[in-house]
Amino acid sequence: MTDVQHPKLSVRGLTRRFGGLIAVKDVDLDLHEGEVHAVIGTNGAGKSTLINMLSGEMPVSSGTIKLEGKDVTRMPQPHRSKAGIGRSYQRTTIFQEFTVLENCRLAAQAQSHTRPWHIWQASQHCASSLERARDALGRAGLEAYANTHAGSLSHGAKRQLEVAMCLATQPQVLLLDEPLAGMGSEETERMLGLLGDLKSGHAVLLVEHDMDAVFRIADRITVMVNGSVVATATPDRIRIDPVVRTAYLGEEQHD
Ligand SMILES: Nc1ncnc2c1ncn2[C@@H]1O[C@H](COP(=O)(O)OP(=O)(O)OP(=O)(O)O)[C@@H](O)[C@H]1O
Ligand SMILES: [Mg+2]
Repeated sequence: MTDVQHPKLSVRGLTRRFGGLIAVKDVDLDLHEGEVHAVIGTNGAGKSTLINMLSGEMPVSSGTIKLEGKDVTRMPQPHRSKAGIGRSYQRTTIFQEFTVLENCRLAAQAQSHTRPWHIWQASQHCASSLERARDALGRAGLEAYANTHAGSLSHGAKRQLEVAMCLATQPQVLLLDEPLAGMGSEETERMLGLLGDLKSGHAVLLVEHDMDAVFRIADRITVMVNGSVVATATPDRIRIDPVVRTAYLGEEQHD
């Protein structure tokens, strides 16, 4: 159930400048457990920059990010990952020559080593990383491919693996940057099924250009234009929002 009073992740006034360019401008956003919250917007709208700030990979220019009420705005990325914010990338990050299981295990292991001086715990970490990796593969429906080289997977299965790698870090919040990019219809269906399953127990932020998929899967949609949020509402309301239609969906119809 969505707890409207207590968002998992709460963002206020988030801004990122690159010199004179304001890529993300004064963004407010609340992500709730049990919801897929899509962020849509044309190329360069600031979606990936927003994810980069939420994951801790890019410092904010101003604004605050709270995870379960705790201010994590200046928390370094590895600590934020350990605290429960996981992400997948717009461009692939898998090691092609490693197996599917090894990729997941590396993701789990990288995250558990925020304190490298705890080296004596290494073997214990290995065992728990393997368990987390297997669990993540199961949730992502990839158990059968555990020992397959990642490089030989289909494009859709590679994107599933990236979600599994994110799950291996045991996140509460999943930040997914275009997980459906380049997928055929069957692969899209499989991924949408997975995202639907994942929302129980997680807050999912989905950046995606596939509008049919977004309107089917999202519980809430935020529309960004030139770095600013122009609307946040349910899919039904977004579809008929005149500002959104002019600023974004209208453009799509002329493509
Ligand atoms: N590291 C950077 N240095 C300078 N400018 C950047 C940097 N990263 C992003 N930008 C700029 O910030 C703006 C937002 O980029 P961003 O990648 O967040 O857009 P996006 O909404 O993810 O687009 P797309 O749908 O194409 O992935 C763009 O104008 C981009 O050129
Ligand atoms: Mg992007």
